[in-house]
Amino acid sequence: MLRRNRALTPGQSPYRVSPDSVAVSGAEVTARLQDGAAAGAVPLRLTLTALADTTVRLFVVEETPLRPRYSPQYALERPPTADPAGFKVVSQTAERLHLSFGTDGQLVLSYEPFQLEVARAGTTVITVNSAGLFNFEHYRPKPQPKEAAAEAEGGEASDQEQPAADSEQPGQWEENFKTHRDSKPHGPSSVGVDVTFPGSAHVYGIPEHADNFALSDTKSGEPYRLYNLDVFEYEVGNPMALYGSVPVVLSQSATHGAAGVFWHNAAETWVDVRSEPDSGLVSTVTSYLGGSRAQASKHLHWISESGALDVFLMLGPTAADVMRQYKQLTGVTQLPPLFALGYHQCRWNYNDQRDVAEVDSQLDRHDLPFDTIWLDIEHTDGKRYFTWDSHKFPSPEEMIRNVTSRGRKMVTIIDPHIKRDNGYFVHADATANGYYVKDRDGNDFDGWCWPGSSGYLDFFNPAVQEYWASRFQLDNYKGSTLDLYTWNDMNEPSVFNGPEVTMHKDAQHHGGWEHRDLHNEYGMLVPMATARGQVARSGGTLRPFTLTRAAFAGSQRFGAKWTGDNTAQWSHLKHSLPMLLSSSVAGISFIGADIGGFFGDPDPQMLVRWYQASAFQPFMRAHAHIDTRRREPYLFGEETTRLVRAALRQRYRFLPLWYTLFYENELTGMPPMRPLFFSFPGDTSVYGTDDEYLIGEALLVHPQTEQDGRSVSVYFPGADTVWYDVDTAERFVHGTSTVSTPLDKIPVYQRSGTIVPTKERPRRASAHQASDPYTLTVALDAAWTATGTLYTDDGASFSYKDGQHIYRRLSFENNTLKSSAISGSGETAGWVERVVVLGLDKVPKSVTVTSSGREENLDFKYDKDLLRLVIRKPAVNAGADWSIVIA
Ligand code: GLC
Repeated sequence: MLRRNRALTPGQSPYRVSPDSVAVSGAEVTARLQDGAAAGAVPLRLTLTALADTTVRLFVVEETPLRPRYSPQYALERPPTADPAGFKVVSQTAERLHLSFGTDGQLVLSYEPFQLEVARAGTTVITVNSAGLFNFEHYRPKPQPKEAAAEAEGGEASDQEQPAADSEQPGQWEENFKTHRDSKPHGPSSVGVDVTFPGSAHVYGIPEHADNFALSDTKSGEPYRLYNLDVFEYEVGNPMALYGSVPVVLSQSATHGAAGVFWHNAAETWVDVRSEPDSGLVSTVTSYLGGSRAQASKHLHWISESGALDVFLMLGPTAADVMRQYKQLTGVTQLPPLFALGYHQCRWNYNDQRDVAEVDSQLDRHDLPFDTIWLDIEHTDGKRYFTWDSHKFPSPEEMIRNVTSRGRKMVTIIDPHIKRDNGYFVHADATANGYYVKDRDGNDFDGWCWPGSSGYLDFFNPAVQEYWASRFQLDNYKGSTLDLYTWNDMNEPSVFNGPEVTMHKDAQHHGGWEHRDLHNEYGMLVPMATARGQVARSGGTLRPFTLTRAAFAGSQRFGAKWTGDNTAQWSHLKHSLPMLLSSSVAGISFIGADIGGFFGDPDPQMLVRWYQASAFQPFMRAHAHIDTRRREPYLFGEETTRLVRAALRQRYRFLPLWYTLFYENELTGMPPMRPLFFSFPGDTSVYGTDDEYLIGEALLVHPQTEQDGRSVSVYFPGADTVWYDVDTAERFVHGTSTVSTPLDKIPVYQRSGTIVPTKERPRRASAHQASDPYTLTVALDAAWTATGTLYTDDGASFSYKDGQHIYRRLSFENNTLKSSAISGSGETAGWVERVVVLGLDKVPKSVTVTSSGREENLDFKYDKDLLRLVIRKPAVNAGADWSIVIA
């Protein structure tokens, strides 16, 4: 299907809308669409919907389908809300329909050829089928052998030019891949179309690939592939498919702003990226909505093997708007429990309870803060998940209690493949109830994974979700406690003896769907059911925590994701940045990469640099393959321990900021880890940047990722912006500076105009920081103003959703720092022990605090070289109203 779709010649599309079929009703337009060139092409039904928040949905299926087309069932958080104001007809002719919608949206549907043009505030931001690559392989009856033979003589070249009529090409009704056969009982069913962002030279997203952040032109290579796969020792700089597939793209342009496209399809998908005018893929769209023909445009050619053609166009106009528009569709990461933002210590495997106790106490002894210890597959009884190896882990509850007695948590791995062993209760239940995915012949699918011969639970069956969730009840999962959380792996699904190490496409799922239709969605149902089980076991009181390897659009709602089995190589450390950024802009915001690299043995320098980078990334976990040397950070001598300790302390120092950003992510969809253009959209020089990034709006991070690198070139964006080194308060202004990076240096800078909350007392776990005081660092901008926010709550329960939290606006203006409530009626033990003001270029005479009737002069120290004022012990509650005046 890739070959057929890729061979289409750009130009006039043969697809036409029948003018008399077009009907506008409220927020919906329906029309008949047909391939005008192919004999026997069936009519298609096109639906356009105006959705709330300036989003348009294009949906195409056969008018009278031989077989229903699959739509992902779990990617959308809820049915999208139609714009109550609906479409308004601006004009309707025999050639086209011109509509307006939302506050400033416009849409033109052209009939011959079929094209869509969508504009916001008079600027065309997205066009569909302007290169004429729309293709819809309608379901058709299987040709009889004689017919097929006769038609196959037609030859391939002409078939490729008329793909709608090429159903009898070899490989379309059956295909062999190595030793595997795909029976393709329903024949060809691919859908594809080009989507153009006029005026945008940069597009991002479609994780997961180990490639640059700004998507590369694929003209001379393979397209980006989205097909969840367990890839052994993946290469970097490559568009090959990896563990996750999120078919969403964000564009950014200085002239056209930002826009987004969400391709709502869970089948194997390919995306070609082409740049106009270079690619020769010239758009034939004539802009009816005004504006000059854009010079630089990106075309994306989306192709999926089956399913409906279903695409959401999100019109921005800023990246923040697109993140919100996408959040409205697929939801957002829920605020994680606080411990999940701390440092996670993992390895395949901690061998037994003694090993766990040893790692636990060694980390403590070396003053290395951490929040969890993880157990990989070897902790189970023969890879039977929800069980324990009774020799190595004879008393798991006691082990967990020991770890949690010092305020920490544990995590065990629970994979979705089930050992086919009649004595194993999960297998017995699954067999008795028909819970497994079936093969093409209707037998329980049998694949090879860690336990050997395995069944794969069919999470598309709601009864299976229910069943899986119930396994987490403490009574069902013996040896677990409420402090034990979950890692879901191998959920692509990984099938060692399957085609490309995954499930056969003709396997069958609940609802009559083929695995082909929903492959990319399978993985996300595992953490979905896991998270539900965790919430249920606590009687609905505690937030869940899951880590997943496979992902799809919407996975963000169920927990964290990591980038799978990377390698201890500098190139992998370097590529972790663009990989995490790509995930972040595709909504998967709680994302991290294995510290140290999963395969191979990092040397101490690489390990240190990896800890340093990860300390400033959303999900921070060290992990290693079972065949690697032990690499707990205390094993490399004092110097390495000291350097890792310093990196971990930075993590815990900035936890209040991370926690605030994850809360705000839940509110707005804005990821905590952001590309520079999110805050500096006018600076086109940062559109390709992926060696540095922002945390929220306040921090700029440029990790050292080169071996023996002793400096980095940091680009400081923002013409009037000053950046302050978070360690030294050294000032940097707009432009590129070479910053030296001795082994203990992590280049991190606070932006002028921001206020950042930290907790500065070194602690050994996030729980130990609960009543620690805050430091607020106020970096003044040129106008002597700054703003920030601070969020806190109990760190674990759902009561924050009922207002049991503290969410404050911090602002500095007119020489006054103020804390005022945004929302919440919670309480905190945290008080403010220090205020640091950066960029203050006059010696203050006095500093006065006012809080609940108390007015008091405060001690302060001013450093005129650093332009830094340190105000000591304002002793105000972080959750109360107060103000501090600098006179
Ligand atoms: C997979 C995971 C890896 C894990 C291993 C054993 O390779 O990606 O993280 O350690 O399986 O469970």
